[in-house]
Amino acid sequence: MATERTLSIIKPDATKRNLTGKINAKFEEAGLRIVAQKRIQLSKAQAGAFYAVHKERPFYDELCEFMASAPVVVQVLEGDNAIAKNREVMGATNPADADAGTIRAEFAESVGENSVHGSDAPDTAKEEISFFFSGLEIVG
Ligand code: CMP
Repeated sequence: MATERTLSIIKPDATKRNLTGKINAKFEEAGLRIVAQKRIQLSKAQAGAFYAVHKERPFYDELCEFMASAPVVVQVLEGDNAIAKNREVMGATNPADADAGTIRAEFAESVGENSVHGSDAPDTAKEEISFFFSGLEIVG
C-alpha cells in the first residue's frame, strides 16, 4: 500500500463547536497521522481561491462566506491510502447519506456546513497541500 498525504480542513461549524479534538481522534483511530496542522482565519477571497473549481456552482458564494465565517484548522494527514481512507472517515458530503460512525454522520449540520473537507485525488491533494503549507511545515 502506498503512503500518501492528503489535505484536510476542519470547517467553521466544527471549530465553533470545539470539535477539533474529537475529529482529530477519528483520524488517528483510523491510522492517519497529522503531520502538519494550523488554525487560521480565511478571508472570503482566500476561500474563493481554494474552492475555485466550484466557481460556477450555485452554492459557491454561500460556501466561500461560510468558510470565512470563523477559523478553520488546515491539516496534512499521512498514511497508507490516506486520500481514500480520509474520505471513508469523513463520510458522504451530505450528512444525511453518511455512514454511521463517520465524522459527517456524527458532527455535520448540513451539506454546506459539513464539518470537514478532504482532497479527492492525488493531484488535487498535492495542489491543496501546497495552497496552505510549505515543505518545511510538514513533518512526517
Ligand atoms: P467539500 O468536500 O469541502 O467540497 C465542496 C463543498 O461544497 C462541499 O464539501 C460542501 O460543503 C459544499 N457543497 C456541496 N454541495 C452543496 C450544496 N448543495 N449547498 C451548499 N454547499 C454545498
